[in-house]
Formats: sequence, C-alpha cells, structure tokens
Amino acid sequence: MGKIKTIGIMTSGGDAPGMNAAIRAVTRAGIYNGFNIKAVYRGYDGLIADDIRPFTTENVSGIIGTGGTILKTARSKEFMTDEGKQKAYDNLVKEEIDALIVIGGNGSLTGAMNFAQEFDFCCIGLPGTIDNDLYGTDNTIGYDTTMNTIVDCVDRIRDTAQSHERIFFVEVMGRDAGFLAQNSAIASGAEAAIIPEDSTDVDQLAQFMQRGIRKSKKSCIVIVSESPKCGALYYADRVRKEFPEYDVRVSILGHLQRGGRPTARDRILASRTGVGAIEAIIQGQRNIMVGVRNNEVVYVPLSEAIRSDKPFDRKLIKVLDELSI
Ligand code: F6P
Repeated sequence: MGKIKTIGIMTSGGDAPGMNAAIRAVTRAGIYNGFNIKAVYRGYDGLIADDIRPFTTENVSGIIGTGGTILKTARSKEFMTDEGKQKAYDNLVKEEIDALIVIGGNGSLTGAMNFAQEFDFCCIGLPGTIDNDLYGTDNTIGYDTTMNTIVDCVDRIRDTAQSHERIFFVEVMGRDAGFLAQNSAIASGAEAAIIPEDSTDVDQLAQFMQRGIRKSKKSCIVIVSESPKCGALYYADRVRKEFPEYDVRVSILGHLQRGGRPTARDRILASRTGVGAIEAIIQGQRNIMVGVRNNEVVYVPLSEAIRSDKPFDRKLIKVLDELSI
C-alpha cells in the first residue's frame, strides 16, 4: 500500500442528522492535512456508477447545521455482488482514491469491512445512524437528534392524550435495537417502553395500563420499538381486546425521526470523529470505525463495531419502571 494522497468520502444506508457535519469535518481536516478529497455521491451505488467529484472546503460551507446528507445516500444491492464490488474497486483505482471513509450504520460498515478485506483497501467507518446500534462508541451520529425529536413529539401527544383520556402507543424507529425507545421513554416521562431487549407479555401490558391509569386517571403513553410483527398496532389491538373500556390510539412517528437540524451534541460527535478519521489515516490505521467512548476518540476494528452486540444497560429498564409509578 503506497502513500495515501486522495481520500474518498461517502454516506450510505439510512441518513442521520449530523452526517453533513461529518462530511464537513472529514473534508476540512483532510484538506488541512494535505490530502485531496473526493466526494462519492449516492453511497455504494455512486461508487459503482463512478458518481465521484473532487471536493473543496467551499463544498462543505454552511452545512454543519443541516439535516440529511448533501452526498445523498442509498442502500445498495449491487455492492453486495462480486461484480458490483469489482466495479467499485475499478472506479477507486481510476479516480486515484487511496482510502475511503464511509459514514453509515451497521449494513454500510459491514459492506466497508468486506470490501476492505477482499480488495486490501483502506476503509475507515464513521458511526452514522439514528439507531445507536454500533459497538465501540457510546453514541452514533444522529441518535441524539432523533431522541430529541421523539421527545418533542411525545410531549405533544401527551397533551392530546390527557385531554381525551386516551392510551397512546407511540412507535419509534431503531431497527433491532431499543436504545431510542427506552431512552426516549425515560426522557418523555412515558409509562412504559416495549423494546426488543426485553420481552413483554399480556400480563405486563396490563400492569402498564393499570399503572398509567392509576397515575393520570385515564391516559397513558407506551413507547414501542418498531418491529415487523409486534409494533404499536399489534399492542394496540391486544389492549383493545383485553381492555375494551380504554380509548386506544396509535401514533407511528416514521421518517420524521430521521430529519431535522442536528443537535449540538451530534455536530460535535460528527466533528470529532471526522477529524479522528483523518488522524487515523495519518497514523496508518486501516479498517476501523472511529467512535467516542467515555469522551475519548477511539478506534474500533470494523469487525468488532458491526459484529458484537452493543450492550444494553438493563438499569435503564429499572429507571423507567421506578419513575412511572
Ligand atoms: O437504520 C436507520 C433506520 O431509520 C431504522 O431505524 C429503520 O428501521 C430503517 O432505517 C428504515 O429504513 P428506510 O428509510 O429504508 O425505510
């Protein structure tokens, strides 16, 4: 592997607030340290299609506070094939890109890891996902903003829940992880959270209901982590059957959770990890994800970041439980 002169930057998978701040940080820190920066548009699809343009500091002016990603993003099916990866590699060679920084979640960093191994290419990951499900970093870029968005929505839902004395099941994103659901439930003062890390049966549901009713007469809010089979609609149906006396409503927050201006926390995390990615390249690191743990920038092998289960602090379940009496 020769000296790295040109670095490619891209976003991939579901977008997350703070991705633009990370693109800005990588671009500016890269240029500051003497590298050329090339932007890859539309994730791995753009890499395969050679949708690649040189970037200067002007390209990233005024984007630190904007949501979405100026580079666009995609969930690429073609990159999972041998032909797709070969085309991507050929384009990297053609564009003289020596290292690739990928901002994305679990699937995107898995793609980066496999590509790095198969083609002996330097890939660096930044944790960009609202789900917070990457191991080795306390938070992912976008998680804090999404949590605040959810809390804002639940505060509003509580107004109407109380006025009408209704039970609300509010469904939030998170894919297979309950970090968003559990922590937004604590932060919004919800009566309960239904998360994949903890099983919920009908008896427990009954307890939630009674607890909510005891507390606020006839209204209560349960945050439900998305799930193809047991989402908010499923639990609402169960409760309607078991407790026909309650007036039940469902609110699925959906993609509004992914948009909006990033919080200061997400902008700082994106800026620190973006600068950390360039530092990693200077140090000769390869195939790692840059995270922040205990307020320190850390380098985690991509294989660990994506493979290990991120520990879920079960004390959070107790916190919500004790505070929702
Ligand atoms: O991974 C981020 C995420 O927002 C998940 O929470 C959610 O399950 C998924 O992406 C939704 O993906 P899409 O936008 O492709 O429907």
